[in-house]
Amino acid sequence: MFKRLENCYNTADFRALAKQNIPGPIFHYIDGAADDEKTYFHNTEAFDKCDLVPNVLNPVTNIDTSVEILGKKIDLPIFLSPTALQRLFHHEGERAVGEAAEEFNTYFGISSLATIGIKEIGKKFNCPKMFQLYVHKDKSLNEDMLQKCVEYNFDSLAITVDTIVGGNRERDLRTGFTSPPRLTMGSMLSFALSPKWSMNYLVREKFSLPQLESHLSEGTKIAMSVGDYFTKMLDQELSWKKIEDIKKNWEKPLCLKGIMSVEDAKKAIDVGASAIMVSNHGGRQLDGSRSPFDQLEEIVNAVSGKIEIICDGGIRRGTHVLKALSLGANACSGGRFYLYSLAGAGSSGVKRALSLMNDEIVRDMKLMGCSSISDLNKKNIRYK
Ligand SMILES: Cc1cc2nc3c(=O)[nH]c(=O)nc-3n(C[C@H](O)[C@H](O)[C@H](O)COP(=O)(O)O)c2cc1C
Repeated sequence: MFKRLENCYNTADFRALAKQNIPGPIFHYIDGAADDEKTYFHNTEAFDKCDLVPNVLNPVTNIDTSVEILGKKIDLPIFLSPTALQRLFHHEGERAVGEAAEEFNTYFGISSLATIGIKEIGKKFNCPKMFQLYVHKDKSLNEDMLQKCVEYNFDSLAITVDTIVGGNRERDLRTGFTSPPRLTMGSMLSFALSPKWSMNYLVREKFSLPQLESHLSEGTKIAMSVGDYFTKMLDQELSWKKIEDIKKNWEKPLCLKGIMSVEDAKKAIDVGASAIMVSNHGGRQLDGSRSPFDQLEEIVNAVSGKIEIICDGGIRRGTHVLKALSLGANACSGGRFYLYSLAGAGSSGVKRALSLMNDEIVRDMKLMGCSSISDLNKKNIRYK
């Protein structure tokens, strides 16, 4: 059945809309993950291992869903994880995502591989902005990105630490997905079957990765898979010491994205990070890695109150957010829940996805008998 935005009510609907509206290789880049994609599916399934237990008969006319994270108060307790290449998914790209983040007052995560420059984003959007740093071998590129984030007043920095090499994303290998996109015999048909996307790609602002292109040709002038890009361009010598060195040049809150063990969570405190994103990169890196939600309680028990904890990955429903917050996460974040809607319908899609997520969270909090996020706690959770 032909999907329309107004008939989308949840992440699964937005996924179907994206699949219908964009070329196959691009859809599979968003949707896919590493190896057998076990971790990818498990990230969401993990939320089914426990149930919510409500406490009723509490007045819930006024609900406060705000949380404080990385130096900012955000109204939606789930924010937009940084994701690469957004103008490939829809020509409005980061401009659409930033607009929606601003409307719902949540953190806007901006990837090092964003398709719009730090300067434009910094000037255009007033919502809290998190820049995600992939630490490259090219030191001048890292310094340049950081210096621009300082100049354009970004609010926090997230260093991704789970991408020391590219994950084995077999869907991308099969479809031949590269950045910038390269037409292959196999993919030609799928581009022809998405004429609106293809027309926009051809006539609108040319695809670019503004943060990288004055330093590198790979990914912009030289087409390559994202996996090969990471393996070739990122710094495999990245270490705790190097994180400390970066921290010296960054005065605002620092977050480490991709922390999964208690040991590393403690080290994150030692190097002066304000937050960790408990994350396996949406299952796109180490397949077989534990899910962030499964790992959350262990990390909360060890470091809660000493560092902020963000649960990132697998979140598709408001109840997933409530479960993670009940277990002690300070906030949640996600990628695909807003990316499918961006790919399917641009700015109005992302706004609808955030609006539905907000409605779910508000409704579910009322059903839980909670009027603020601090009312949620471990007593609300039972394991099956
Ligand atoms: C298409 C896509 C691109 C991504 N690009 C980046 C990126 O550039 N940097 C990064 O740190 N994480 C990136 N991620 C991971 C997200 O930040 C986030 O950790 C992940 O999407 C969470 O899982 P979820 O999609 O199930 O919510 C990407 C994820 C997707 C789906």
